[in-house]
Amino acid sequence: MCGIVGYVGTRDVVPLLLTGLRRLEYRGYDSAGVAVVAESALTTVRAEGKLDELVGRLSSQPVAGSLGIGHTRWATHGRPSERNAHPLVDSQGRLAVIHNGIIENFAELKKGLAADGWTFTSETDTEVIANLLSAEFEKSQDLLASVLTVVQRLDGHYAFAAVAVGDVSRRIVVARQGPPLALGLGEGEQFLASDPTALLDQTRRVVYLENGDVAALSEEGCEVWSRSGEPVVRDEHVLSWDPIQAEKGGYKHFMLKEIHEQPRALQETFSGRVNFERSEVDLEELGIGAEALRSFDRVQLLACGTSWHAALVGKFLIEGLARIPVEVDYGSEYRYRDPIVGPGVLAIGISQSGETADTLSAMEEARDRGATLACICNAPGSQATRISAGTLLTHAGPEIGVASTKAFTTQLVALYLLALHLAKVRGLEVPAQAISDLAHLPQAIDEALEQEADLDELARKYHRAHDFLYLGRGINYPIALEGALKLKEISYIHAEGYPAGEMKHGPIALIDEDLPVVAVATGGRVFDKMRSNLQEVKARDGQVLVVTDRPEDFADLADDIMVVPTVGELLQPIVNVLPLQLLAYHIGVRLGADVDQPRNLAKSVTVE
Ligand code: AGP
Repeated sequence: MCGIVGYVGTRDVVPLLLTGLRRLEYRGYDSAGVAVVAESALTTVRAEGKLDELVGRLSSQPVAGSLGIGHTRWATHGRPSERNAHPLVDSQGRLAVIHNGIIENFAELKKGLAADGWTFTSETDTEVIANLLSAEFEKSQDLLASVLTVVQRLDGHYAFAAVAVGDVSRRIVVARQGPPLALGLGEGEQFLASDPTALLDQTRRVVYLENGDVAALSEEGCEVWSRSGEPVVRDEHVLSWDPIQAEKGGYKHFMLKEIHEQPRALQETFSGRVNFERSEVDLEELGIGAEALRSFDRVQLLACGTSWHAALVGKFLIEGLARIPVEVDYGSEYRYRDPIVGPGVLAIGISQSGETADTLSAMEEARDRGATLACICNAPGSQATRISAGTLLTHAGPEIGVASTKAFTTQLVALYLLALHLAKVRGLEVPAQAISDLAHLPQAIDEALEQEADLDELARKYHRAHDFLYLGRGINYPIALEGALKLKEISYIHAEGYPAGEMKHGPIALIDEDLPVVAVATGGRVFDKMRSNLQEVKARDGQVLVVTDRPEDFADLADDIMVVPTVGELLQPIVNVLPLQLLAYHIGVRLGADVDQPRNLAKSVTVE
């Protein structure tokens, strides 16, 4: 999950590389570096730590040039250090390589190179690519020919870029097999980045490389070849996002900005897809027709992390509204359970980035076993959208904070719309209220956000706790899981989500006066059960915090209450998660955590 950028043109390259890396820092931030080819010299500058370290190094060691590559790292092979920072240079000093992914056969390749006298200065698999390229380049002085030869020998996932001194032309050569790579097209200048948001300042004309592609970027333009060396044409897309959307907009952190963007993001996700007058949902854009949708007898939802929590809610929505059985799987587990699939299955990958390796592998497994593939995704043009027969985009805009917030709630809206659409095409009656409730959702989210000051006060009261327990039942059990994940990934406090009804089967032994228990207990079919579960907690001196739309029912029971407005039971989880997002955020801030870039994490996990 590293970030890679590149530029070839006539402008000063280092500031452009640093701007791009700043936009990609959320993808990994344990070291960073740049390489510039100018005249007949190759210069690399690297630094351990965050991008600011590299910026400082470059201010004291400026590098001039208009052709270069840059990298911000999330370590896979080799500890975070300057020695293992990218770009890596071959032992002959001819070329530099930056890389995102994992070369699975790097050890045997390294052994062969060492036997031929090549030396290594790092523990990275990337340095093996550099020396392999150099061995080829030595014969041809042609970087493109060298890359086309070397990729035949690489097993694993990679998106890499290389520049060389003495190449037949001024260019960057890139190769993609797995992790994303986007090319930005300009006039007399070209760009590359792992994620198109890093291109927004410079261009909106983007070409997404496919798996197996090799491309050369020069002032004149971009050319693409298949892995076998055949020229190929890739479509040009025009990005609709504007650069401002990828800025903090006056908020202290991207995460807080994105929490507050949710009313608009939800509105943009359902607008144009719901006809409130006719009380109908229209998802023609899905790309899978009504007849096919009627033919499925099962749905499989495949996702990771927060998106997996969305999938758990999706099970309630699709089974509740469309009466189709739904299975939910972690992307990283699905392939290993020998899943029973077949043509009657609609398999849906849920992914904010559309590039999560575990989810993509599960999606491909489902497709290979006969399922029809669809995805719910926030990244147009991402790999998940390209391998799917049908796509339902969330319109959350770029989500920069590593902790997913608006992407999650817009995934829930997309799943709700899909469930309504499936019900319609299968001839099931849907109460008009199910549609009209959507119209009130942005307002309800706004109301929930108005409680922010109260949530900050709760954060002050509880931020020293060492453990938290989050409880929920039914459709709100996934929200308990999500609340716990938000807290632990932002504040590093241990937090566990649990079905409230399961407490008596063990976890109730944890309850004491030092353990805050956060319960999601809004009105609905399990409300009374939740209330009695919380009485069991209170009877054992547990500290009870409740998210509820019925505060009067908890006056005697809860130590603290987070009030939310009431919407339809199937939409209520979308509102209920808001106070949990804000609680996690404010606890993290009070603990001085790096809220947008928590340790050990990255925004898009493009390795398995
Ligand atoms: C959630 O806050 C995390 N950032 C992480 O669990 C994330 O949801 C997961 O890695 C899946 O990412 P995706 O939605 O881009 O596939």
